[in-house]
Amino acid sequence: MRKLYIETYGCQMNVNDTEVIFSILSEHGYQRTESIDEADVIMANTCSIRDNAEQRIWGRINQFNIQKKKRRATIGILGCMAERLKDALLESGKVDVVAGPDAYRSLPDLLEAAADGHPQINVELSREETYGDIKPVRVDTNGVSAFISIMRGCNNVCSYCVVPYTRGVERSRDASTIVREACDCFQNGYKEVTLLGQNVDSYYFDGINFANLLARVAEISPLLRVRFSTSNPQDISDEVIETMARYDNICKHIHLPVQSGSNRILEKMRRRYTREWYLERVAKIREVLPECGLTTDVIAGFCSETEEDHKETLSLFEEVVFDTAFMFYYSERPGTLAARKYPDDVDIETKTRRLNEIIELQGRMSLKSYRRDIGKTFEVLVEGPSKKTDKELCGRASNNKMCVWPDTEHKAGDYVTVEVMDCTSATLICREKK
Ligand code: SAH
Ligand code: SF4
Ligand code: F3S
Repeated sequence: MRKLYIETYGCQMNVNDTEVIFSILSEHGYQRTESIDEADVIMANTCSIRDNAEQRIWGRINQFNIQKKKRRATIGILGCMAERLKDALLESGKVDVVAGPDAYRSLPDLLEAAADGHPQINVELSREETYGDIKPVRVDTNGVSAFISIMRGCNNVCSYCVVPYTRGVERSRDASTIVREACDCFQNGYKEVTLLGQNVDSYYFDGINFANLLARVAEISPLLRVRFSTSNPQDISDEVIETMARYDNICKHIHLPVQSGSNRILEKMRRRYTREWYLERVAKIREVLPECGLTTDVIAGFCSETEEDHKETLSLFEEVVFDTAFMFYYSERPGTLAARKYPDDVDIETKTRRLNEIIELQGRMSLKSYRRDIGKTFEVLVEGPSKKTDKELCGRASNNKMCVWPDTEHKAGDYVTVEVMDCTSATLICREKK
């Protein structure tokens, strides 16, 4: 048995890919270890979305090489950065194996060949690979909530984004394998599955669209919660919103990345919707699903962004009142359309200032959104003890907001009804409702 250590960076899809990699390698004589000190194979499943994500991984590669001096180990770089940098990673002399997101089935061979001291690379992208037949080995989970990838790649070409280059073309996974995996999770005690894709609303396999898939997974059991991410504003359909309304166990939360509030910038980003379209989708969601949680992603300081454009983003945030947002400043990615076509001309001070203005505003909006829930009653799925004390439990409401309440009776995986008494801008403070 060779001992295998993997660190995972980036999005939830990477977390799920690591589970697929553990599954593939566990059938070839590798055993997972959580200690880098005893590992024969040290790998990082990486992310390229922003420059600082890659810088962090270079730092880790240097650390891995210090480990390698202490004991012989094979160093592998997987995922998006492997796909983007390809041979450059091998040429650094610090890496033994490079494998892109569609090359994980070849890892046993690559590792074996690399053990003889010959660096190995496979960064071939595929039009078909979905790992649909592989049963992920769930690691680092709370035993309550599992990720299921329903598609891979992306067919959009948002001008700032590296994902289409690192993950290849979009392909949907066979629906029957998705339903089987969700059933399996439920039988193994999981109470929540999150269906993952870069653009879940464009899922399509053999006559089954995303709304149909959601319904099928929801029908497994009313005790299995269903979540999904990410919805692209251009594609989220009335059918999906109405399907969410039909099933109590489809959680009422939509992550709907807006990226900018300015139509001029949205067009330059090649997002295929306008501010007005986005606001109309939000209105539709709130009409059909009044209690639906809404979160977003935003990029500050994209190429040519003016103070006016930035103010449009701020006003959109003020108007929508998101529960939470993931906020970034623009990081140019080599090879993308924006990098080729537009100068990265907003200076770093301005980017940082605008980002901070968005963060400050969103802080107030989060508080406003969380305060609206005071007095409401929610059914919460227990995830475990709260961060502070084991006399308190924590878990999410359907709208994805984190709840904490005093409780020494229930355990992870139970459903508990709570009443919201108070809040911060990131937590609902509750008591159990008996
Ligand atoms: N498929 C999702 C996004 C996945 S990437 C969607 O279309 O919404 C996650 C987030 O990273 C994006 O929503 C965006 O806000 C951010 N991001 C992507 N590329 C970026 C870049 N070059 N610079 C800064 N942020 C970026
Ligand atoms: Fe990137 Fe756009 Fe695809 Fe999202 S939809 S992964 S932002 S190209
Ligand atoms: Fe990062 Fe790749 Fe995900 S670039 S965000 S790990 S798809």
